[in-house]
Amino acid sequence: QRFLATTGKVTLFTLVAGTGAFWYIAHKDRTPGVQLPHDPSKKTLVILGSGWGATSLLNSLDTADYNVYVISPRNYFLFTPLLPSVATGTLSPRSILQPTRHVTRHKEREVHVIEAAATDVDPHAKTVTFEDSSEVQGLISHTTLKYDYLVYAVGAETQTFNIPGVREHACFMKELDDAERMQRRFMDCVESAAFPGQSKEEVNRLLHMVVVGGGPTGVELSGELHDFLEEDLRSWYPELAHHIRITLVEALPSVLPMFSKQLIEYTESTFKEAKIDIQTKTMVKEIKEKSVVLQMPDKSIAEVPCGMVVWAAGNTLRGVTRQLMAKLPEDQANRRGITVDETLRMKGADGVFAIGDCTATSYAPTAQVAQQEGSYLGRILKQLAKKDSAVAELEAAKALPDSDPEKASKIKSLEHQCTKLEKLRPFKYSHQGSLAYIGSDRAIADLPFFSGGNLATGGVATYLFWRSAYLSKLFSLRNRALVANDWIKVKLFGRDTSRE
Ligand code: FAD
Ligand code: NAI
Repeated sequence: QRFLATTGKVTLFTLVAGTGAFWYIAHKDRTPGVQLPHDPSKKTLVILGSGWGATSLLNSLDTADYNVYVISPRNYFLFTPLLPSVATGTLSPRSILQPTRHVTRHKEREVHVIEAAATDVDPHAKTVTFEDSSEVQGLISHTTLKYDYLVYAVGAETQTFNIPGVREHACFMKELDDAERMQRRFMDCVESAAFPGQSKEEVNRLLHMVVVGGGPTGVELSGELHDFLEEDLRSWYPELAHHIRITLVEALPSVLPMFSKQLIEYTESTFKEAKIDIQTKTMVKEIKEKSVVLQMPDKSIAEVPCGMVVWAAGNTLRGVTRQLMAKLPEDQANRRGITVDETLRMKGADGVFAIGDCTATSYAPTAQVAQQEGSYLGRILKQLAKKDSAVAELEAAKALPDSDPEKASKIKSLEHQCTKLEKLRPFKYSHQGSLAYIGSDRAIADLPFFSGGNLATGGVATYLFWRSAYLSKLFSLRNRALVANDWIKVKLFGRDTSRE
């Protein structure tokens, strides 16, 4: 009895303490305090972008050191790893967004967040020109800002290789709009197939979903589409469900080339079970309104009817990045992206750092890399602020009258400090492993070991690990609560099949 009473008290205490802590954190999150205003004596730091690199930098940056501006055409951070789940209605769009002001309003000194796209960076004059490209604009929608330091983190856009019809007829999977558009298109195909009198051929065409690109985006999306079909559409569209087909087209000999061989085989066998057709060594040559033109492994050409094509064929540089690189032809000749040194400084540009998918480094263009680069830069910018203030103190010490008995020792100590702060520790990437969801409640993971080895694992347990890893990776408690709530909602009530 005493044991039960003690257990009860402990449980009650844990519940009350947990709820209290949750409420306290949520309350603190919602009620940011008063911030220091911009200080004319501080240097100006401009951050372009609000994605993985920029947001990670903002999280680690001490804004007391700078007057900070964040310029991005979207006023939020998008948690891209869960984007395919939004495309099939497993998660609601808002659950994976974090308004950028939710980060900046908690910083010590105010950060000016400007919803605009940079249209030009002049690395010689050290200016950024940007414009409000949204639907609604005020009287001023275009201006130029001078920077002392610029962090260039604009990411990349979807690579189309100028293949005809891609922009006109395919859905992308990069931004939130893309996922929402795909969801609408998918449900439109299903409802059109349900239209009375539709021929069997037309039903089969409308319900054939083609995903192009066997990288992790294409694989995860195919897995999510399969789950939607099995867990929901079979119940609500019993007469159509068996007509739905998913084809994953990949130009290379296998999908997921970045994963270990056994995980590639595991994915292929899981897809086979799930009746997702993988067509490797097959290249998309054109996308038409109602079909996709494929070059088959034997080089023959086939035109395959389909209702929807999702294009997930990799990244390419944004126009503004190409323009910036063209201004520094001697240092920026790599077509893959911006060349940076070991401290992530853009070569040939004074005061510019570049991080994430817009750079050409030896690392893969992943969130993991961009996030680590962002937090590294937060530390580097702290050191630079210290160095800048030591340099200013040194100048002041040099201006002291020679009669000052402490002048020489002050100069010596400050010079020593400046030399020490001058040396920036190079960026080192620490790979935490690769994870991907492959549908049917299974995920795959390639996890590094201390000794340089690798643990390759796949299945339901890995899927639970995948879920907990991404839940913990979400930047805020609010997003964690929203995503967890969506997962529970879908388990209990299924996905929404209405077409907004
Ligand atoms: P982004 O996060 O793309 O941010 C770029 C920012 O720049 C955006 O805010 C954008 O609005 C802004 N911007 C664009 N143009 C301008 C402009 N002209 N001026 C100013 N700002 C501009 N990686 C993983 O490691 N694990 C995963 O599971 C994973 N899943 C993914 C799933 C999907 C569907 C996709 C598309 C990608 C996934 N990635 C994943 C890759 C990851 O999202 C990218 O590597 C990461 O977003 C790169 O970060 P970034 O900061 O360079 O760019
Ligand atoms: P990707 O570049 O990894 O894969 C694109 C695939 O499309 C390539 O395999 C390519 O061969 C294929 N392709 C290109 N053109 C084609 C054509 N015409 N016909 C047929 N196939 C064609 O692109 P993805 O998947 O968008 O990933 C981009 C980056 O984001 C990668 O670095 C990836 O690692 C990262 N990412 C990581 C995830 C994870 O870790 N779970 C999830 C999603 C993305």
